Amino acid sequence: MMTKRVESHDQNSLPCPRRSLSSWAALERLAENAKDFSIRDAFRDDPKRFEKFHSQSCGILLDYSKQPITSDIKEKLLALAEDCELAGWRSRMFGGETINESENRAVLHTALRSPAGLSIKAGGEDISLKIHATLARMKAFSEHIRQEKRFRHIVNIGIGGSDLGSRMANEALKPFTDRFFDMHYVSNLDPAHLSETLRVCDPSKTLFIVTSKTFTTQETMMNALHAKAWLDDALGPESVCSHFVAVTQNVSKASKFGLDPEHIFPMWDWVGGRYSLWSAVGLPLCISIGFDQFQAFLDGAHEMDRHFLDAPFEQNLPVLLALVGIWNRTFLKRDILALLPYSQLLDKFPAFIQQLDMESNGKSVGRDGRPVSYPTGPIIFGEAGTNGQHAFYQLFHQGTTIVPCEFIGIKHSEYDYPESHKTLLANVIGQTKALMDGQNDPDAQKQLDGNRPSVTLMLERLDPRTLGSLIALYEHKVFTQGIVWNINSFDQWGVELGKTVSGQVLKRMELALESKGSLQGTDSSTQALIDAARKDQ
Ligand code: F6P
Repeated sequence: MMTKRVESHDQNSLPCPRRSLSSWAALERLAENAKDFSIRDAFRDDPKRFEKFHSQSCGILLDYSKQPITSDIKEKLLALAEDCELAGWRSRMFGGETINESENRAVLHTALRSPAGLSIKAGGEDISLKIHATLARMKAFSEHIRQEKRFRHIVNIGIGGSDLGSRMANEALKPFTDRFFDMHYVSNLDPAHLSETLRVCDPSKTLFIVTSKTFTTQETMMNALHAKAWLDDALGPESVCSHFVAVTQNVSKASKFGLDPEHIFPMWDWVGGRYSLWSAVGLPLCISIGFDQFQAFLDGAHEMDRHFLDAPFEQNLPVLLALVGIWNRTFLKRDILALLPYSQLLDKFPAFIQQLDMESNGKSVGRDGRPVSYPTGPIIFGEAGTNGQHAFYQLFHQGTTIVPCEFIGIKHSEYDYPESHKTLLANVIGQTKALMDGQNDPDAQKQLDGNRPSVTLMLERLDPRTLGSLIALYEHKVFTQGIVWNINSFDQWGVELGKTVSGQVLKRMELALESKGSLQGTDSSTQALIDAARKDQ
């Protein structure tokens, strides 16, 4: 469905639907005064501050008391969520309405983790039956692979949403994995990625899972074809089929690739790539942790769905996390958000959330086709603490840019060395305090002004259930922010142009080889880079 673009001269004549809300205007006024707000003094003035600014559910504690937030600001942020009709949009999403208007699709990743027996409609069809039929196939297939132990190397070939979630969760849940299997994820078009993976794989013991919703993604298709040729060379063409599985919506392309129907697991158009980990995209994870743990992962996500649906906004973890983000991004104009999990196993979590958040909310046109007149999704970066502490935290403490931080701590470790784990927790908590308090020092170089905001999520443990809840928390955070910003969080038109242009460049590179001269119709920089890339070939 096309949304007509509204030109900026029309825009000036129309009031912005968000800025004209009274809660929005009130927050803009409160943001003016927030410059003088001292988080440290707020704790001194109100010893019960934590009580007012935390919430807890699904084994996750959210502490947002170390934010430049008052009860008044919180009240207005909650009013903003009401004014933007968050509850109505939430029902529309869970109810299978076509809320992804630009792609004319429903958004039903939540259906993938719903218990059996609940009827869920998309386009008039009850989709719960095919969801649970696919889960039954995943169970049978993963149990077969885990019992048979014919394959030692499981190689997922996919990129973006067909890679990041499964890769991240497989790493995060390492203590729950069957160590017999070597799990590999090949995403990059760089031949180094596939070649280095194949180097350590024995063809007769390797299972490839080609994960691609479209089955047309350049990187995935090239890597899959090379993997097929590698198997063909080693084992002969007749054995290739039994070493390949596909997860895709494009069954005809997967069949053309040479796969039998029983080796093709479905995806559906009402699940976006970055929200698809709960579908057969999670097959590598399901093999690695086993179906029962995969089910616990789905159950944890469903528990967060219920919390998001049922808890009042003032206790609702996704809503609160989203509103704190909006306060920082839109009203205090903070461009960046650092995501800092204090868990080596969550090292890939920031990369996963980067796609989830930035591909969803990196938008500057509203649902109505009008340019938005306020900042939307922030730039997200981060890595596991404490590694970051010895690298980029200097800028957090003394840099000229204020970087709001989202810390994640894990109360119970699955590993030995309790002293190390206790010290790790002391570090995460210590950082939140140091950023807030700063220090006064007569030596100007050692002065830390403090007042640097942070949020902390403390997880009971990092198990399949809680990880499921954590990911769903972030999905609903992103959804909530998209509603308040009046943008469609479920399309990604911005990434398409780059794909088209690289296709054009490739054609020019091939032409350049033949003509060995510069080409008409491109700028001098692009042409010079093409020439430089092709030199001496
Ligand atoms: O280019 C972006 C994107 O479309 C993502 O949204 C998606 O997760 C990724 O590419 C992979 O797409 P596919 O699963 O179709 O290969």
